[in-house]
Amino acid sequence: MKVLAIMGSPRKGESYKIMQLIQERLQQKEDVVFDSVLLRDYNLGQCTGCHLCIFKEGHKCPLNNDRELIEMKMKEADGIILISPLYSQHVTALMKNFIDQLSYLWHRPRYFGKKAMVVATGGAMFKVTLNFMEETVKRWGYHVTNKIGIPHLDALNDSFKEKTLAKLNQEVDAFYTSIKNGKQPVPNFGDVMWFEMWKGNSIAMKKAHPADYEYWNQMGWIDGSYYYPTHISLWKKLLLRLIGSMGSSYMKKMYKDY
Ligand SMILES: Cc1cc2nc3c(=O)[nH]c(=O)nc-3n(C[C@H](O)[C@H](O)[C@H](O)COP(=O)(O)O)c2cc1C
Repeated sequence: MKVLAIMGSPRKGESYKIMQLIQERLQQKEDVVFDSVLLRDYNLGQCTGCHLCIFKEGHKCPLNNDRELIEMKMKEADGIILISPLYSQHVTALMKNFIDQLSYLWHRPRYFGKKAMVVATGGAMFKVTLNFMEETVKRWGYHVTNKIGIPHLDALNDSFKEKTLAKLNQEVDAFYTSIKNGKQPVPNFGDVMWFEMWKGNSIAMKKAHPADYEYWNQMGWIDGSYYYPTHISLWKKLLLRLIGSMGSSYMKKMYKDY
């Protein structure tokens, strides 16, 4: 089993230490091959907003940077762990820059069947940042099974530190087990609505921006009910069709090419 950690701190500090603890825990399991990407060591440059990745494909990005190298590692890994310190109650600029460069995955997600864990380090109040990272990797296709915020370990009193480390181990073990069992999550109504919305979008924008439609068609999603085989009841399908047609008539009122 391959696990890739992607770490967004500009230094080898607290997040790096947490990454090492996660690595040690995972490597106690015999079948784990652990790899890591410290974003500070990769050349990503800055997105110039050309939209080529979104309107064409990721590899059309003119930056000629290390993004594809990191994506190759993501493709090889069965699970990823995103780790970022809180900066102004959000991910670091390094992590956000990386996430922005994968924005095209919202249009054309591809990491289904893979698992993810998200980790934030900082003082306290991790929820917004963890939710952001969770939502992001979920939109890339990952099943996010675990998330945890870790306050400054060295400043914690003994009992809180012990509890925090125990919780971290628990989350890492659960993440490992979820990769091992390989089960796909059963989508809720919102997930299926999301699928229908992006499908509708790729059909409506077929002429103006064909990349999405071509990808969705090639994946068999244009005639499908979800990204992967799952049961969706008839009443849900009917309700979704109704919501979908309301959504597209709303968009048509706003946009010329829709
Ligand atoms: C520029 C900057 C902004 C920060 N903003 C926050 C913040 O909003 N909330 C918080 O809890 N900690 C904040 N911190 C503290 C870091 O999140 C915390 O020290 C983190 O564990 C550092 O991780 P690192 O050692 O891996 O870089 C900030 C630190 C820096 C340098």
